[in-house]
Amino acid sequence: MLGRRVAIVAGVRTPFARAGTTFKQLTAIELGKGCVAELIQRTNLDGDLVEAIVYGTVVPSVIAPNIAREIALLPVLPRGCEAYTVSRACASANQAITDAADQIALGHHDVVIAGGAESLSNVPILHSRGMSDKLVALSRAKSPAQQVRILGSVRPRDLVPITPAIAEPSTGETMGQSAEKMAKINHIAREEQDQFALRSHRLAAHGTEDGRLTSEIATVWVPPQYDASLSSDNGIRTDSTIEQLRNLKPVFDKRYGSVTAGNSSPLTDGASAVLLMSEERAKILGYPPLAYIRSYAYAALDPGEQLLMGPVLAAPLALQRAGLKLGDIDLIEMHEAFAAQVLSNLMGFESRYWAQRAGFSEPVGEVDRSKLNVLGGSISIGHPFGATGGRILTTLTNELVRRGGQFGLMTVCAAGGMGHAMVIEAAA
Ligand SMILES: CC(C)(COP(=O)(O)OP(=O)(O)OC[C@H]1O[C@@H](n2cnc3c(N)ncnc32)[C@H](O)[C@@H]1OP(=O)(O)O)[C@@H](O)C(=O)NCCC(=O)NCCS
Repeated sequence: MLGRRVAIVAGVRTPFARAGTTFKQLTAIELGKGCVAELIQRTNLDGDLVEAIVYGTVVPSVIAPNIAREIALLPVLPRGCEAYTVSRACASANQAITDAADQIALGHHDVVIAGGAESLSNVPILHSRGMSDKLVALSRAKSPAQQVRILGSVRPRDLVPITPAIAEPSTGETMGQSAEKMAKINHIAREEQDQFALRSHRLAAHGTEDGRLTSEIATVWVPPQYDASLSSDNGIRTDSTIEQLRNLKPVFDKRYGSVTAGNSSPLTDGASAVLLMSEERAKILGYPPLAYIRSYAYAALDPGEQLLMGPVLAAPLALQRAGLKLGDIDLIEMHEAFAAQVLSNLMGFESRYWAQRAGFSEPVGEVDRSKLNVLGGSISIGHPFGATGGRILTTLTNELVRRGGQFGLMTVCAAGGMGHAMVIEAAA
């Protein structure tokens, strides 16, 4: 990155909970507030030092769309802590992190908290256009007779609610259909997808058991009674077997498909937060940086082709900006939207065609699987859209430090045909 070096000081997240389970009563704002408060407490940071909150979310609250500002109003933070919310689909927390990093690199800020939150248990359900028109007319009715007339005009079709779909507005294709398409184009067999999903669960279960994942997680006690709590991700299946996975029916192409509930990331609730500082300020305050952001890139392709191939275009750019090759990378974290997407992305990294699409003559290369998603990924851990980027950066940073590695690469695919990649460098 140009400008001042940006230090990754710490990261924390809530447990990731399958939508409709432990966190179903919590909004994204509540999850985000709890997560940021925990980050400040864990790092023993004087809240007055935080100059900005940059936060990502994909399905915003219609009542409080700037979730970042709501979080910045935590009692521990100064009222002058500026805050804004970003949206880049599943790479929203990544966008928050790179925005925060840019502000630090430019010298505008020294201490920023970035991350994201999502409650897929609480997506807004909208009235149909017809119902909305009738409700507005009702509120303007001048007499009880007029009100009765309007209410009498409500038809069953007016009552059908509109729920946000995980589909491309431009093509109508759902994420799952895109994953199906990618599996077919790239000849990714069902067995390969299921084996990858199993690997994800096994590694995440291991990371939970030995504490590497749980150390990044803040226990959440659920209001209003505070009698229920969650301390680890509740979607990780310690007992998953390949036979169970093989037996699941395809969801998005019921007849010929290979993408199932088992080899897809589940709908999830959760939040993440990362503390970033300028290198100078971290040193002055006595916070030893864990790593530095070395480079990042975003890229996009036509959503009508292979929607989730964005990482294949972003990664070579981030590596080039870092002045590195894949062989220099010690650890890789790739967001697992679907096993079919990860496996397609990995094939794309080896392909001359995709290298040329990204503007390079040589492919990125073959990813050493022993360095990939070593603590599982979104298939097992879960994927609260706006929060995932912070989760991945935190895990990558901590594990890179634990292993004594030097460079880490992360990638995230996102709706709209977008992709993100970031290279981090462990602090010496
Ligand atoms: C795929 C999807 C539709 C599945 O939703 P769902 O049907 O509610 O999923 P469930 O968790 O109920 O799983 C369905 C079944 O598979 C089983 N199952 C899921 N994962 C399993 C695993 N790893 N091992 C064994 N069984 C598994 C469940 O136990 C359940 O079985 P049951 O019906 O007997 O209870 C949903 O998770 C989804 O939409 N995911 C994609 C989200 C997306 O598009 N994200 C964007 C990516 S960037």
